[in-house]
Amino acid sequence: MTNMEARAAHWNERYRSVGAEHVSWFEPEPNQSLALVQLAAADHDASVIDIGGGASLLAGCLVERGYTDVSVLDVSTEALDAAKARLPKPEAVTWIHADLLEWTPNRRWQIWHDRAVFHFLTDERDRATYRSLLRRAIEPGGAAIIATFGQDGPTSCSGLPVARYSPEALGAELGPGFAMIRSGGYDHHTPAGVTQKFSWVVLRADGKAPTPK
Ligand SMILES: C[S@@+](CC[C@H](N)C(=O)[O-])C[C@H]1O[C@@H](n2cnc3c(N)ncnc32)[C@H](O)[C@@H]1O
Repeated sequence: MTNMEARAAHWNERYRSVGAEHVSWFEPEPNQSLALVQLAAADHDASVIDIGGGASLLAGCLVERGYTDVSVLDVSTEALDAAKARLPKPEAVTWIHADLLEWTPNRRWQIWHDRAVFHFLTDERDRATYRSLLRRAIEPGGAAIIATFGQDGPTSCSGLPVARYSPEALGAELGPGFAMIRSGGYDHHTPAGVTQKFSWVVLRADGKAPTPK
């Protein structure tokens, strides 16, 4: 089994066995993400990619609000199928089935959104791959919105260990080439009623970091 097949099997099993709207990370209204996308790019022509977007309602909400260039990347077909099934016009979104750690983006986006994916990268080599991808996929002047478990957040999710970050540590982890434009924390209430602490950052790509080819 390849790394991608193993990751896809893990996440497909989670979505299939628990249900896309019962997994701990499900949000009936992705209000925090919507507000941060709006903050980073109020212009509805801004292109947005939701990294590890899974079955989140975010893409559909962005299309509803008038965003015309929305992409979702995820390793789980089970999650992508659940997300598509909800939308009246799934073709309004570009769906990318890929393992982000093995993905070669063929274009750039103005907004890179990642909620609860980066924190699974507990290996420094995987974080370096992520940073390189981010630089390759983001437009100069574009914004990265990244949310992870906070310092007081859970130590694992979906049976996998996670790294926890303060907003400052998260900004520093993403490395040079990004200016922090806003950061904070919020509480996520899981469908089972558990409160999870999140940290989030909005970073502006200053165009000075070397862009990988
Ligand atoms: C905790 S869930 C968060 C989903 C979504 N961002 C949300 O907030 O509802 C993590 C998501 O990342 C996806 N994922 C995990 N590792 C991935 C990888 N290496 N490449 C692409 N997607 C990945 C999973 O399939 C899952 O949908």
